[in-house]
Amino acid sequence: MKITIRLILSLLFVAILVAGIFSYIQVRDARESLIDDLNRRSLLVAESLKESIVNLLPPNYKTKLNQLLEKFGNKERLFGVAVYDSQGVVLSATPGLFTKVPENVPQIFKSIQENQTADVIGTYQQKDIHIFSFPIRQNDKNTGAIVIYNDISYIKTRLDGIWENNFIRLLTLSLLIILTTVLVVRWSIVGPIAKLAEWLKNLRMGKSSKQIELPEGDILGPLASEITHLAKSLAMARAKAEEEARLRIIGETTWTAERLKEHVRIELGEKNLYLVSNREPYMHIKKGRKIEYIIPAGGLVTALDPVMRACGGVWIAHGSGDADFETADQNGKIKVPPDEPIYTLKRVWLSKEEEQGYYYGFSNEGIWPLCHITHTRPDFHLEDWIYYQKVNEKFAEAVLEEIKSETDPLILIQDYHFALVSFMVKSKRPDARVAIFWHIPWPNPEAFGICPWQKEILVGLLGADIIGFHIQYHCNNFLETVDRVLESKINWEQFTIERGGQITQVKPFPISVAFPSLLQNEMQDEVSKKKIKKEILEELGIEAELIGVGVDRIDYTKGIVERLKAIDRFFEKHPKFVGKFTFVELGAPSRTHIKRYQDLISEVETVTDKICWKYQAKNWKPIVFLKAHHSHEEINRYYQVADVCLVTSLHDGMNLVAKEFIASRNDEDGVLILSQFTGASRELQDALIVNPYDIEEMVDALEKALEMQQEERKERMQRLRNMIKERNIYRWAGNLVSALNRVRISKTVS
Ligand code: F6P
Repeated sequence: MKITIRLILSLLFVAILVAGIFSYIQVRDARESLIDDLNRRSLLVAESLKESIVNLLPPNYKTKLNQLLEKFGNKERLFGVAVYDSQGVVLSATPGLFTKVPENVPQIFKSIQENQTADVIGTYQQKDIHIFSFPIRQNDKNTGAIVIYNDISYIKTRLDGIWENNFIRLLTLSLLIILTTVLVVRWSIVGPIAKLAEWLKNLRMGKSSKQIELPEGDILGPLASEITHLAKSLAMARAKAEEEARLRIIGETTWTAERLKEHVRIELGEKNLYLVSNREPYMHIKKGRKIEYIIPAGGLVTALDPVMRACGGVWIAHGSGDADFETADQNGKIKVPPDEPIYTLKRVWLSKEEEQGYYYGFSNEGIWPLCHITHTRPDFHLEDWIYYQKVNEKFAEAVLEEIKSETDPLILIQDYHFALVSFMVKSKRPDARVAIFWHIPWPNPEAFGICPWQKEILVGLLGADIIGFHIQYHCNNFLETVDRVLESKINWEQFTIERGGQITQVKPFPISVAFPSLLQNEMQDEVSKKKIKKEILEELGIEAELIGVGVDRIDYTKGIVERLKAIDRFFEKHPKFVGKFTFVELGAPSRTHIKRYQDLISEVETVTDKICWKYQAKNWKPIVFLKAHHSHEEINRYYQVADVCLVTSLHDGMNLVAKEFIASRNDEDGVLILSQFTGASRELQDALIVNPYDIEEMVDALEKALEMQQEERKERMQRLRNMIKERNIYRWAGNLVSALNRVRISKTVS
């Protein structure tokens, strides 16, 4: 419960209690004083009547006494007067008196007997009555009593009034006190503490050291002063650490998250980094009644999340999870990573039609097969192209909204989904520095020429200041395509294109992964590796000596079927591995609304079944196909124990599974088999490089990997790891940010 609510409830309880007690005491006192007053008045009346009544007592009393008592009828608040004899029998009374009051009241007789005045309060016929008995003595003998009957309903009415007024008054007062207390607590304690906490958080995160007005006074003052000292020490320690980092950076070759952070701070100052991609880094999904998040499969997220963790900023992406909307704020924003918020994810919402036309249609049935030479025919439709333009416009608007209060903002657009965004942003914000990184291959001009909107795509891309590809070969293909299609000035030495006053640099930036791996920094010893392997085999329900692993989105470019066929042939050719080696495919279903992808899943299942049927024994299987989205932690377990990892893409921009496998092997063991058609094969020469279309070559590579001596495995893995260590994702981002920051902005685009 919030402290203010607790405070309000406790104060309210105390206020009601206090108001109740005070009202009760006041009512009790008022009642006593009214009754005293009544007694006094009754005594006066009785005393004044005494003489006259004594003279009128028997034997000659009746008429005159009746006449005297008659006068007391019909008086306000007075029911009447009665005279009793020594035995408590009524001698005379105001006419009609005993229709309103009781005649025989024991206290009257007692009062006569004891010669003591008595007052009795009671209820008769639902009326409150006050009876005052005044004894009369004659010749030292009790002769009777004058009894005065009063109507005291007015006392109850008055006391009720006191209750009501008092209670309301005290309650109002208490509420005012509560309100004042709560406001004072909010202004003087909760507010300043919240401000202090925010200030400390910013300080901790190194966002801003702007001094805030610190609370004063005897409660928070000492705390604030201690915190200020602490903050100063923290700021000094940070400044020292930053200085050391700066000095280290000058002499360092290895890029780390810290180095990137420092580098970006030096390059950008307080500016934010804006990243745009179709795929979001964290996707919220419903699992029963619970909401969970997953990290989508694919290299883009693997590569860029560590960059955003290091630099902070805003990542704009399509909110495609079924619980994305309810987990974001009204602007579609959410701080991520969800468990350790560092940067902002801004989700852009798309309608089903937009997603179909732009993502499934134009991007993945058109550009994807166009750029990957895998003999899958690209399909282009006008309707999809219209949606593609519309969604690019939508993302451009989202970017423009985010950067509206920033000068010279830095924008990193990702991939083939957003070929038009650079131009759209630059035409409205020529001061923005825009880079687009194309994560997939760029084919030769003839192949690209299939696209009916090739000109529009090229114009859109050339809105950027930098276009990045993984390798120089793709840069060359792009320059040649522009040369064929557009009127422009190409500088083949500088790799720049000038068109309509805008200069675009075309450069390779080989993407990579975080090194050391974000998941595993500790060295895996043999004992823990054996334990993980045992657990995995138990989970799979098999026994095997050697494990091979493949990790892919189930995509026809990944050469999964070719890989399975190679494994089939491997067992045919090397039967000694039957019962010994199992290949585990961790396949994440992808783009499943597209028929080609559905067909591929069935094909992988069918081929797997066929091979299993052919070789499997009681406790062993040649292939285990785990068709599901797997978390990075799960995948990492397989990487750690795999004797061999197979990456057999038919065509791939880079392929980060290869690099992730290497980054995860801090035991310096395991062999990588890598397709020559991946961008990664240019850097990872210590892998066993294969042509995935050549089954025999893959079989030989697999045999070589499984027979390789530990020493050679270690040497190869060490060299591969050194390569990834040096060319990690922090270096990629550092180089891209530097290149973009060095770009001369022309401020106008025609
Ligand atoms: O490899 C190209 C790419 O778009 C990556 O950038 C991304 O990680 C991957 O494909 C995932 O594809 P999708 O976002 O369609 O699931």
